[in-house]
Amino acid sequence: MHDVLIIGSGAAGLTLALSLPDSMKIAILSKNLLTEGSTFYAQGGISAVLDKSDSFESHIADTLDSGAGLCIEDVVRNVVEKGPEAIDWLIKAGVPFTREDSHSDKHIEGTAGLHLTREGGHSNRRVAHAADASGRAIETTLVSKVKAMKNITLFEHHIAIDLITTRKLQQSEQQRTQRDNRCIGAYVLNTQNDKISTFQAKFTVLATGGASKVYLYTSNPDGASGDGIAMGWRAGCRVANMEFMQFHPTCLYHPHAKSNLITEAVRGEGGRLLLPNGSSFMDKFDPRGELAPRDIVARSIDHEMKRLGIDSVFLDISHKSKDFLLDHFPNVYAMCRKFGYDMNKEPVPVVPAAHYTCGGLMVDDAGQTDLNGLYAIGETTFTGLHGANRMASNSLLECVVYGQSSSKDIAKRFESVNNQTYDIPDWDESRVTDSDERVVINHNWDEIRRFMWDYVGIVRTSKRLQRARNRIEMLLTEIDEYYSNFKVTSDLIELRNLAEVARLIIRSAQKRKESRGLHYTLDYPDSDPNLEKINSILDPIRRSSIRK
Ligand code: FAD
Ligand code: SIN
Repeated sequence: MHDVLIIGSGAAGLTLALSLPDSMKIAILSKNLLTEGSTFYAQGGISAVLDKSDSFESHIADTLDSGAGLCIEDVVRNVVEKGPEAIDWLIKAGVPFTREDSHSDKHIEGTAGLHLTREGGHSNRRVAHAADASGRAIETTLVSKVKAMKNITLFEHHIAIDLITTRKLQQSEQQRTQRDNRCIGAYVLNTQNDKISTFQAKFTVLATGGASKVYLYTSNPDGASGDGIAMGWRAGCRVANMEFMQFHPTCLYHPHAKSNLITEAVRGEGGRLLLPNGSSFMDKFDPRGELAPRDIVARSIDHEMKRLGIDSVFLDISHKSKDFLLDHFPNVYAMCRKFGYDMNKEPVPVVPAAHYTCGGLMVDDAGQTDLNGLYAIGETTFTGLHGANRMASNSLLECVVYGQSSSKDIAKRFESVNNQTYDIPDWDESRVTDSDERVVINHNWDEIRRFMWDYVGIVRTSKRLQRARNRIEMLLTEIDEYYSNFKVTSDLIELRNLAEVARLIIRSAQKRKESRGLHYTLDYPDSDPNLEKINSILDPIRRSSIRK
């Protein structure tokens, strides 16, 4: 029995673990290596108001503007105002952010003296970063801290299959409908020995990251299959805003490149987007040009690629010196060189790719979901911060702020939760066999990602969404049948979750009869002012509802 079971070892899960009282017995699960999540690959950095010329009001206004009318303003204010404290906490944890004074002997402590970069939607320099490998710096620092904690046990290569709730344990209908349903842990597969164990906990936290792997082309690592969203949904939690999947405008275009992001900070430092003939085009779409919010830049690139029938556009920062590029973007520079491009000498081909899940499990300011005992934090959630389009570098900030606020809430409620242990039945494998057709999993996985890209991508239509809906319903039936007949494997667990999340995305997109932020449909090309502030909510138990 653990006090807190944290499913996920990215910025959100690790911040929570390190912020909880060290008297608590904590388990952290990671389905792959501890460091293998989106956090590790984050490039640009983490946003906060850290400069005298900046203000909370400006960060709030930029976030609301990027969110295209759907951010919840109180949430934005709360997160933005906690920004400086969050960065300070990371610095104290030892994260080696790039400093203005990194080339001089003078060293200013704390947040003063950090080098701040710029990204799309931000009207000020407010992104703290560690060169272009900010996520790696954060992840490895926090991992080394949790490894030193005696009260934290790390379970690498352990994938959660499903949550365990008291309602599932109860037999009679009367008990099933009682309102005090509670999450009491999860069934977990150890992928190194294929054993399934029961992890029982007073509090369970989903910190499982996003679901961008649902698309064929993505900047995300392979594990971004939306497991937490699907597990929470199956356990009865509401999800919101799943139609708002963010496409990052600039991933390297190369037949052998996979998930190779080129940070928006390149545009923040003066990079221009060009057509094959060398002309720039972003000013035609938005006065902020290359630094318009991401939905606008990705859609503009998509428009130009379709208009001209070209495979990519180009990102040019060759006017900056090689020293500057090596100083600010050493990893991106090396990655481009590996694929045969020299950023210092030539424009680099880029295309948009799925990048961030703006919607997710609905939570309150402390990360509490609809289910007692279950919290969710990080990219797996809908907090109200991002609205219809997340502003760059607000995600890592959300991970830290909610990691900390959920730790306070759990600590506060801890004493009032009794120490009851439940008699949870072991995972039942008596009626399943080893799969005779594993190829089905790969095939369904590829099919989902392909039609999601083709029909539910940057530009949608009602007809394409219906096509996608028909296919996903059929596949889900097939996957459910497969799931009930064969032993679970990590691939099957991820496929089942990916398919569930794909359906949530399609259903949400079908509900939104307008274009707004990241949801653009040719059948309703304009925003509907009546839908301003209306977040789309899917409820597994009751009918769909709305939240302002
Ligand atoms: P993750 O870091 O994705 O971690 C998820 C964890 O959950 C992993 O440990 C995984 O193993 C575990 N997990 C998942 N499912 C299961 C399961 N079933 N059982 C057990 N464990 C499970 N945001 C910014 O703010 N600034 C940036 O500069 C930035 N750059 C980015 C660059 C790239 C290439 C990418 C992909 C994203 C970037 N983002 C950026 C977004 C940001 O990195 C993520 O939103 C954020 O790191 C998510 O953190 P997280 O803790 O929620 O999840
Ligand atoms: C980037 O560095 O461009 C990614 C930033 C983000 O997703 O917030």
